[in-house]
Amino acid sequence: MSNRDGVVEMNTKKLAAERAVEAIEDGMTVGLGTGSTAYYAIEKLGERVKEGLNIRAVATSKRSEEQARGLGISIVPFAEVGQIDITIDGADEVDRSLQLIKGGGGALLREKIVAARSDKMFVIVGEDKLVDTLGAFPLPVEIIPFAHEWTLDALKALQLNPELRMENGELYITDNGNYIADCRSISIPDPASLHAQLNAIPGVVENGLFVDMAHTVIVGREDGSIDTI
Ligand code: 5RP
Repeated sequence: MSNRDGVVEMNTKKLAAERAVEAIEDGMTVGLGTGSTAYYAIEKLGERVKEGLNIRAVATSKRSEEQARGLGISIVPFAEVGQIDITIDGADEVDRSLQLIKGGGGALLREKIVAARSDKMFVIVGEDKLVDTLGAFPLPVEIIPFAHEWTLDALKALQLNPELRMENGELYITDNGNYIADCRSISIPDPASLHAQLNAIPGVVENGLFVDMAHTVIVGREDGSIDTI
């Protein structure tokens, strides 16, 4: 891929995504993540399905489900899925202990439900997503619309600087009919503790900290190499 100056830029997301799809085998049930990196994984999976790979999948968003269906990937209802073998999903930040911030694309609740039901969660990222301490990326918190002002007050009391997410001048609504509060300019040295504090607030449905959920993180690097951590 070349930029405007003709300099070749590495697509680190695609590198990581395509490596992850190599792990998918015949007969597996696969969780499909959401976002621009997961997009590449679904495209690659679609290619493999056209070549004869026999899998079934569940999706973490309407977007990913539509993409997968369009590529001929069999989407099955959640009620028919026992355990998921591997979920492949992106992340907004990954720290050295493989704790994650997710939800930049607004799909954190479904992503967490699907990841929790998966034997393995493969996280696919470009190297720019690796951080020492989580929090430079705004932490998304999904909150219900009812009395959301009170829920925002509770987030403010934790010094989390919440801001309701907007899209095209309108309040952003998740696939589940909820709002997202993005918590900016925070540092998260102890993700497990903050995760527990957040989910204890009435009105919080789920938050974007994925604690001890990633099985493997696949990192695409600018030099074209791929690391697995
Ligand atoms: C969506 C997510 C995405 O995985 C995360 O935002 C990363 O997105 P991208 O792959 O586009 O960088 O959590 O809710």
